Amino acid sequence: MKIIGTGSILPKKIVTNDEISEIVETSDEWIRERTGILERRIAVDETTTSMAVEAGRKALENGRIAPESIDLLIVSTFTPDRSMPNTACAVQGELGCRCAVAFEMNAACSGFLFALNTAFAYFSLGMYKRALIIGAETVSKTIDWTDRSSCILFGDGAGAAVVEADKEMPYIFVQHSDGEKGDVLTCDCHREDNRWSLAGNRKEKVWMDGQEVFKFAVRKVPECIEEVLTAAKISSDEIDWFLLHQANQRIIRSVAKRLCVDEKRFPVNLAHYGNTSAASIPILLDEWNQSGQLKRGNKIVLSGFGAGLTWGAAMMTF
Ligand code: ACO
Repeated sequence: MKIIGTGSILPKKIVTNDEISEIVETSDEWIRERTGILERRIAVDETTTSMAVEAGRKALENGRIAPESIDLLIVSTFTPDRSMPNTACAVQGELGCRCAVAFEMNAACSGFLFALNTAFAYFSLGMYKRALIIGAETVSKTIDWTDRSSCILFGDGAGAAVVEADKEMPYIFVQHSDGEKGDVLTCDCHREDNRWSLAGNRKEKVWMDGQEVFKFAVRKVPECIEEVLTAAKISSDEIDWFLLHQANQRIIRSVAKRLCVDEKRFPVNLAHYGNTSAASIPILLDEWNQSGQLKRGNKIVLSGFGAGLTWGAAMMTF
């Protein structure tokens, strides 16, 4: 499987750490030191769907790909605008990918990676040949803006990649879930009770046990990267870029250290966008591609981790 186009879009509104410290008791210094985040983008006029459409359009343009040539379209999000129709169908309608089958997936911050893996599985069966994979989120609408331990972390945005089946280009992945530990990072659905039942105490905003999530990430991410490198029979020295979910600078630093890889090979953009969940990997991929730092022939590792718990890694050549 190979990537033939990338695209991304961020909301226009920038919210700095100083602005957050006007809402909750925190400071720019605390947020920078604990997370590496300086500011984030917050959707005001944008929606999950509008950003998914824009990121998808840019990825098609970047690869000079006709929308009708896409036969699989997956949008990964935990913050769709509607329960139905799914976001991918809305994107399909807007972009004119009329030959595609379109559906949505939710694997939280691992979502883009799991969607890529899904596309690869379909390609391997020979069912589809060219897919548009999008990660799009408006996390801001699910944030408890009175909870200083979580509201500082997240941002909104969307990223996309067009991928194509190619037997000459190996794609190797591992993916995992652990539902027993799901309670450390949750966000309940906004649903009315039906007339016979009461939903009870719901946490309709993001709720997180930050330290447990941190421990999970610094243990499982290096583990799954090592797993994928072993499966690919390649050493970490041969990897040009490690494109990780952008949750926290300290998590990325710890992963690099555990793998004994120079941090310079772990691109980071979370300082300006915060954690954009399923959108973070494709936004980073697009920025690295557009800036020319990611070159054809580079070997890359992608790794996502988040609520579920879910985590995984993939190795491919760009
Ligand atoms: N400003 C100031 N003080 C704060 C803030 C804040 N924004 N948030 C928490 N504190 C306080 C706490 O109340 C606590 O005070 P206390 O000692 O008086 O009780 C103190 O700081 C330490 O709190 P901890 O929770 O221990 O702080 P920690 O060093 O663990 O940092 C953080 C918190 C940044 C959330 C960290 O746990 C973390 O990064 N976790 C991972 C979170 C993450 O990345 N989640 C997403 C990954 S998965 C996904 O993307 C969905």
